[in-house]
Amino acid sequence: MLTKKEKEIPDIGLTFQNETKYTPATLANFMLNWGSIPETFKEYPNPLARISLPEPKAGGETNLWKLLLRRRSRREYTVRKSLKLNDLSVLVWATQGLTAQFGDTFFRTAPSAGGLYPVETYLCIRAVDGLKEGIYHFRPGDYDLELLKEGDFSEELTEAALQQTVILGAQATFIWSAVIGRGSWKYRQRAYRYFYLDAGHIAQNLYLAGEALGLGVCAIGAFYDDDVNRILDFDGTEETVIYMATVGIRAPQKPA
Ligand SMILES: Cc1cc2nc3c(=O)[nH]c(=O)nc-3n(C[C@H](O)[C@H](O)[C@H](O)COP(=O)(O)O)c2cc1C
Repeated sequence: MLTKKEKEIPDIGLTFQNETKYTPATLANFMLNWGSIPETFKEYPNPLARISLPEPKAGGETNLWKLLLRRRSRREYTVRKSLKLNDLSVLVWATQGLTAQFGDTFFRTAPSAGGLYPVETYLCIRAVDGLKEGIYHFRPGDYDLELLKEGDFSEELTEAALQQTVILGAQATFIWSAVIGRGSWKYRQRAYRYFYLDAGHIAQNLYLAGEALGLGVCAIGAFYDDDVNRILDFDGTEETVIYMATVGIRAPQKPA
């Protein structure tokens, strides 16, 4: 059944694609207000705690060609085991770690349109050594996690993700949001294209790093947006969830 919005705008996707096209005419009036350039780094004023992440010690398989060949979406996890904090640190670094500085811009492991980095990383932690269960926010500049909410949110998140039980078994679930103003400052409505492209790069880094560590990663694009936004306290307008991915300790392979 079509929603009210879909009835009003029958081909909302195509309309979006057309309305956000670059043409010589649209670019002719392109101006940037350098006085209102948004902050690239977000931090919460009063998190419950700030936990420094250990320096990531990458290991495991390092041959890129083998990793590309082996990468799969993996949904079977050993529920009772706990993820090493170093492994979480490696994954977080692989997705959004800072790798270079040029002027005021910090570059990261994943590319970002215009170097604006509008995607923020949150984690639903269920079983990671040294971390309480809870919802955390990653700060790439300080390389730490801000604890925003304590408790096991994996059931709530599973419900919000259309009952995908892969989240229940995952030791951690990455939740990526877009901070709309950070991208729209430069790209206006076209920024929405770039939020999703940025997130795709980030998620692929997670897949490859997870594969290197022998962990299981599965992208999650199916969820009730409003429900995930509620769990994360996003308003859905200035910041909204765009993508998620589970990370789990792989269950032993069953014999064929
Ligand atoms: C944008 C996107 C959204 C996805 N959403 C889900 C999801 O909600 N649940 C799930 O189990 N897998 C999801 N996947 C994983 C795909 O099902 C998987 O990539 C596809 O079946 C190909 O398998 P492979 O990743 O093992 O190569 C998603 C993948 C992408 C790229």
